Amino acid sequence: VGSPFVSRLGRFGTIDSTQGVVRDWLETGVPEVCIAVADEQTAGRGRLGRSWTAPPGSGLLASAGFRPEWLPPRHVWRLASIVTLAMAEAAEEVASLARGTLGLKWPNDLVADRADGGLRKLAGVLGETVMDTGRVVNAIVGIGINVDWREADFPPDLAGSMTSLRALANDLPIDRERLLDAWLARLEPGYQQLRAGQFDADAWAARQRTTGREVEVDLGNRVLQGTADGVDPDSGALLVRVDATGAVAAIDHGGIVRCRLIDPPPGAL
Ligand code: BTN
Repeated sequence: VGSPFVSRLGRFGTIDSTQGVVRDWLETGVPEVCIAVADEQTAGRGRLGRSWTAPPGSGLLASAGFRPEWLPPRHVWRLASIVTLAMAEAAEEVASLARGTLGLKWPNDLVADRADGGLRKLAGVLGETVMDTGRVVNAIVGIGINVDWREADFPPDLAGSMTSLRALANDLPIDRERLLDAWLARLEPGYQQLRAGQFDADAWAARQRTTGREVEVDLGNRVLQGTADGVDPDSGALLVRVDATGAVAAIDHGGIVRCRLIDPPPGAL
């Protein structure tokens, strides 16, 4: 990776979490955009306080560090979205999948369709920010994508709900280095656009697999059931038409939210 877009690219065999590496770098003055990649994490972190595990070498585990002080805090969700969109495009290219094969499950899971209408998770994204006096000082966006993991080796309890690029490519081995290069090549223009105040909301909305589907959204203190109407390109919210009232609820990005498709029910994420 010779592009000046990347200020530092650190590769680790085994590390606790690439999120912590990048957070420390930013705190000690490393310029943006710094990237940490690991073969294996011993304390990989997921959203909502969950852990993230993957067999050594099977995935691309990466965190990107940004200093987006110019980004309005209400748009900070867009950082995680450009990271995810860049990976969706890169993964489709490297695994020779048709454009649009990969979807997003709000807020930022990368998913593939199951034959019965359910979704399988391919990648997860974790965004963390450090704010100071109302500005986004540092942002760390981590992505874990199942790459060269054979379908036959999936844990049985997850086989219905997860997938890998290799499985989607009919067991073709997938090179993680190529995927990393292709991702960074797409992340750069996405980030420059964001800096210029632009965001490809159409591409983001087009990949949303929740749109038009029955969903159940767990907000921690209450559960909403309704039809996902789409997404709001300004707030990043998921728009859900609540069955009971017909009112449209805007589900904010920042909260503790779990979103699940309820059509079809068996095994759906
Ligand atoms: C999720 O779906 O819950 C988000 C998973 C994010 C996992 C990635 S792997 C690289 C980076 N380091 C971590 O500890 N987590 C993220």
